Amino acid sequence: MSLEQLLTSIPQGSPDEALARQVNFEQLPAHVAIIMDGNGRWAAQRHLPRVEGHRAGIDSVRDVVETSARLGIDVLTLYAFSIENWKRPPAEVNTLMLLLKRYIRLELDAIHGNNIKFRVIGRSEELAPDVQDELEVGIRHTAENTGMLFNIALNYGGRAEIVDAARRAIASGIAPEALDERRFSDLLYTAGQPDPDLLIRTSGEMRVSNFLLWQIAYSEIWVTERLWPDFRRRDLLEAVLAYQKRDRRYGGIKPSRVVAGAK
Ligand code: FPP
Repeated sequence: MSLEQLLTSIPQGSPDEALARQVNFEQLPAHVAIIMDGNGRWAAQRHLPRVEGHRAGIDSVRDVVETSARLGIDVLTLYAFSIENWKRPPAEVNTLMLLLKRYIRLELDAIHGNNIKFRVIGRSEELAPDVQDELEVGIRHTAENTGMLFNIALNYGGRAEIVDAARRAIASGIAPEALDERRFSDLLYTAGQPDPDLLIRTSGEMRVSNFLLWQIAYSEIWVTERLWPDFRRRDLLEAVLAYQKRDRRYGGIKPSRVVAGAK
């Protein structure tokens, strides 16, 4: 993508335009993963039921999906429902599932129109049949798209994903000595996808919450105090700009810091 394409959706003279103009399109994160947090607090601040925070969070999802696609991000992964989230009151879980189904129904045309490929990561086979059906419609409808890959993590746990990969390895009969990090990556839900370069978490919490545990080994983490329902394009642009200022070393040192002749 290009700045020009991104600017077609941003009001001229707005703070978002100023941010967009600072982005280096040669150095975009290939994969952005987001822990959407703070919906309950957003609702509590307004004396509303928790589910109203989730409902408002859908607008942020729409904004972030569209902005990411326009920016030229290759993969966007949103953490929508963890395995641990089943511990929440049944009414909240039901509303989350309803919102998810409604989101797919209402947004599928826009997602498809933006050439986005929709995927689910997690133990989706354990979700209710009506939810699985709706997800399947989204996946099938966008399967041939060639633009941004949009993963929704549902009934997802990072440890469960690693266990599932280990089970697959055993079931495939692979010899222990043939298993290495690359092959193991190919057994994860995200097989074939780049690891997240940038992990964003909203609402100020400093936790990874069992999200993409294997894949975030070298991700840059950016935490904002913004609660998820307030998260918008400007926040995503700020996160990308912060990412572009980071010095990524992957455990090594920057070539410029290697003193000539030093051991
Ligand atoms: C965390 O906030 C948020 C969630 C557990 C659910 C996120 C879901 C949505 C935004 C809606 C559905 C998603 C899609 C992709 C359509 P919290 O409830 O833990 O907030 P709190 O920490 O303030 O209580």
